[in-house]
Amino acid sequence: MSSNKPIYLNNAATSWPKPEPVVEKMLWAIRELSSTPGRAGYSALQGEREIFEAREEVARFIGAQDSSRIIFTSNATQALNLAITGFLREACHVITTSMDHNSVVRPLARAEEEIGVEVTRVQADENGMVRAGAVTDAITPQTRLIVLTHASNVVGSIQPVEEICGSLGTSDGVRPVVLLDAAQSMGVLPLNVTETGIDLLAVPGHKSLYGPQGTGFLYIAPEVDLVPIIEGGTGGQSTLLRQPEVLPEKFESGTPNTPGIAALGEAIRFINSRGVDNIRNHEQKLVEILTEGLSKIQGVVLYGPDSPEDQVAVLSFNVEDLDPAEVGSFLEQTRGIQVRVGLHCSPLSHRTIGTFPEGTVRVSPGIFTTEEEALSLVEGVRELQKFRGNN
Ligand code: ALA
Repeated sequence: MSSNKPIYLNNAATSWPKPEPVVEKMLWAIRELSSTPGRAGYSALQGEREIFEAREEVARFIGAQDSSRIIFTSNATQALNLAITGFLREACHVITTSMDHNSVVRPLARAEEEIGVEVTRVQADENGMVRAGAVTDAITPQTRLIVLTHASNVVGSIQPVEEICGSLGTSDGVRPVVLLDAAQSMGVLPLNVTETGIDLLAVPGHKSLYGPQGTGFLYIAPEVDLVPIIEGGTGGQSTLLRQPEVLPEKFESGTPNTPGIAALGEAIRFINSRGVDNIRNHEQKLVEILTEGLSKIQGVVLYGPDSPEDQVAVLSFNVEDLDPAEVGSFLEQTRGIQVRVGLHCSPLSHRTIGTFPEGTVRVSPGIFTTEEEALSLVEGVRELQKFRGNN
């Protein structure tokens, strides 16, 4: 029997529920802000101030020294497309890993076909773990870009970003640019772009930052030059026929998502009030409960890192002889549990862990998930196996 309130375990797709201050800020912005920032002489200032403050909030949160290098986008996909397509303009060598999301795989595949970029995909092990040495060993004099996935959206495995960035020498004068896809880590794992040496950082606002859908950003380090993928009105320098070079306007043409960006600023204030370390501890505890419970059920196969230390709160499993969709459907119908099943827009990750093409059942708890809810998932899978006569 389905309960009225769902048990939401799909935070890797988008976090839910959103914190009340985020909801309130968005409602306030929709009600009160009358104009488009930069496109009106009257009360536009308040909207502009909201966007400026959100940009400053993001810059402080990621350790960027100049907030004008934070480009607001509508999601991580758009940020990754701007980073990859805006950076790759001629044939060169790119290193990435076998744990990429299609938001990285597809723009790179196009660059391979259309401009002759050569891509080395470093193979992760069957738990989704990437070795730092395997990435640095793949560097050649032609390597211009390294794309890393901070945490996998299929098994949560954390890549050794600090170790890789720390070992990138500048001896030959050309240090490859590092693009980090932080879609599953920002807000859960601490990260300082300046100290770590991240050149491009792509982040969704609506996942573990708990902002609204339709928000995200790309950080661009000072020495990195990108070509815009969208051009148009920027609210200023209107006499120019070419896109202005000044940031962030160079990459932010068109009316911005003012309510969403204002709410994203509020979301980061919320994350700061909780504390990234506390969030991580809470989520690790939930991963431990899920892993321990599921691993004891006969016929359940768990994927991903051996230790919760190496994993964010994204966990994949299968029940033998069942399609992941059947498991997801049973959990939803019997307990109102919402998970995501299938390939999670990351077929290469599933090939890596050996679950292509059927995929897995993915469980991703969040800040608001309780231990009881995690135990309910375990109990639901146990019931399913009992029902099938396997326990
Ligand atoms: N990429 C998101 C996910 O993994 C949507 O579900």
